Amino acid sequence: MPTDHPRHANLIIGAGSGIGSAVIRRLRAAQPDRDIVAVCRRPEDLTEAADDGVHAFACDYSETGIARLITQLAPWQGRINLVVISTGILHTASIKPEKRAEDLHMDSMLEVLRINTVVPALWLSALLPAVRGSDPCRVFTLSARVGSISDNHKGGWYSYRASKAALNMIIKTAAIEYARRAPNVKLIAFHPGTVDTGLSKPFQRNVPEDKLFSPDFVAERLLTISSDLPVDGDASYLDYAGKSITW
Ligand SMILES: NC(=O)c1ccc[n+]([C@@H]2O[C@H](COP(=O)([O-])OP(=O)(O)OC[C@H]3O[C@@H](n4cnc5c(N)ncnc54)[C@H](OP(=O)(O)O)[C@@H]3O)[C@@H](O)[C@H]2O)c1
Repeated sequence: MPTDHPRHANLIIGAGSGIGSAVIRRLRAAQPDRDIVAVCRRPEDLTEAADDGVHAFACDYSETGIARLITQLAPWQGRINLVVISTGILHTASIKPEKRAEDLHMDSMLEVLRINTVVPALWLSALLPAVRGSDPCRVFTLSARVGSISDNHKGGWYSYRASKAALNMIIKTAAIEYARRAPNVKLIAFHPGTVDTGLSKPFQRNVPEDKLFSPDFVAERLLTISSDLPVDGDASYLDYAGKSITW
């Protein structure tokens, strides 16, 4: 724990995700002078956790779990330059994305909304004092293009789409408050493209080979976009190419 000479840090929430763990690997190579704070449900599963500079913390993503984790960030308060919130579900053993209206079920919908919308919203709420300061800080929350209301031409995936559209609204709303209370922070809703992870596995069949990205490619894109992005007090909804998506 960096108590004597606290270093700057990058915070990855959802460090067990395909995308989050790729970001950690990239950051270790690109910014060895910064600590990496890796948050996930099972830090014992992280291969990076034993390495120097990677501080792994367990969190169950409950409200109390998030509050407890925020207290553990104290050594890095005001020194966090990048946050990536990479948690999210599309399917589980019991949840499948809906193809038609008859597939909607209350428990499944609430679970998708809880994980994809409410959990990141609680992080944005709890993180404000930890990221506020004079140092610029960019906060990427993994959204998806299917969360764009104006871009919805295909339908389907009701819960996932709704959870990401609601997440986008949370980000947009939080950015207005952050601009006032933490003007050093930029909030981004990020669409990574279709990425070869457990989340997309069952849905990769019709994706052209050159449109199925590796987690490492997306991690590189996110970090490059982050380094070029002005802290302008507004939320951005960006894809992996750095192009704006209509909300
Ligand atoms: N892969 C794609 O094609 C794609 C496309 C568009 C958007 N995205 C978004 O990118 C983000 C990361 O996705 P990924 O592809 O890297 O997925 P992934 O490898 O399946 O990772 C899933 C993440 O969600 C968390 N998670 C899974 N089940 C959970 C549960 N029951 N309760 C709480 N958290 C849970 C995991 O937490 P732990 O870290 O604690 O294990 C992990 O961080 C998601 O928000 C996803 O919607 C992905």
